[in-house]
Amino acid sequence: MRETIEKVKEEIKKASISTVEQLEEYRLEFLSKKGKVPALFLDLKNVPGEMKKEMGQAINEVKKIAQERFDLAKGEVQEKDSKEKRDFVDPGLPNIPGKVGGRHPISIVRDKMIKIFERIGFNISHGPEIEDDWHNFTALNFPPDHPAREMQDTFFIGRDPDITLRTHTSSVQVRVMESEKPPIRTLSPGRVFRNEAISARAHCIFHQVEGLYINKGVSFVDLKQTLYHFAREFFGENTKIRLRPSFFPFTEPSAELDVSCPFCKGKGCKICKGTGWVEIGGAGMVDPRVLRNCNIDPDVYSGYAFGMGIERITMLKYQVNDIRLFFENDIRFLKQFQREL
Ligand code: PHE
Repeated sequence: MRETIEKVKEEIKKASISTVEQLEEYRLEFLSKKGKVPALFLDLKNVPGEMKKEMGQAINEVKKIAQERFDLAKGEVQEKDSKEKRDFVDPGLPNIPGKVGGRHPISIVRDKMIKIFERIGFNISHGPEIEDDWHNFTALNFPPDHPAREMQDTFFIGRDPDITLRTHTSSVQVRVMESEKPPIRTLSPGRVFRNEAISARAHCIFHQVEGLYINKGVSFVDLKQTLYHFAREFFGENTKIRLRPSFFPFTEPSAELDVSCPFCKGKGCKICKGTGWVEIGGAGMVDPRVLRNCNIDPDVYSGYAFGMGIERITMLKYQVNDIRLFFENDIRFLKQFQREL
């Protein structure tokens, strides 16, 4: 009997219990009704009377060890099991979507503007950022040494006065007029450069959207209606526009384009400095000289042109108070536009 008890005790100590299955096997083998420990108690019947007490104590001892081993192993196995379940990766599950990058506010606004004009028949044209004097100035009726050139503080490439960074995307319109026959209805979005001191309101790099329409019988009414259409589509139905007489060498007559302040609806606020109006660009009827420079007969055709600053319009739309924010790539600024894909 003593030997049997010792043998069971050894088996209990040696049993390996590291999985839920092994735990159950252990329980069945030693602790269940038909297990080895209850069997020892049954054997006690056959032990002679004087030994019963001693054997009984020894079996109780084994029972205690068996139970303690079980309780300890149960805790460990359960912890391990739940960790495994937690760490389990099911490769068949759909991917957790990662964070997508946002679009730059300038791109968002540029594309909104493009869509509005595309819907009324404008195509999109692009040209080089490094331009020659002809496309940026001369063809647009800026005579050499004309003071109007100073309106656009120009960056030159090296010492060559003929090669510049374009100061406006009107240069693209010259290229389109030179290479296509009217009717022309084109929109030229792009980056432009001016040698200006950088401040909250001005930057040496910015973006424009310029439009051009050339056909027979195009009049100022067409221009006004197109700008009105754009203003309402972009800023909202009740937006008004105002055209103030101005000067550009390439348009005659020329005008400055204002929209009713999108914040105070024309009542006057900080943004519009109390005037109720904000300026968003320039416009006018294409000067006959410009048409002639591009081999278009001004006696047959006429046209209008307009140009707007994308930064200006973006600042208005999103109430951005410093133009430099568009070029700093500060993630805290850009993040705010993340949802507008
Ligand atoms: N090109 C002008 C500018 O950059 C804007 C403009 C375009 C004005 C077309 C009138 C007509 O200032």
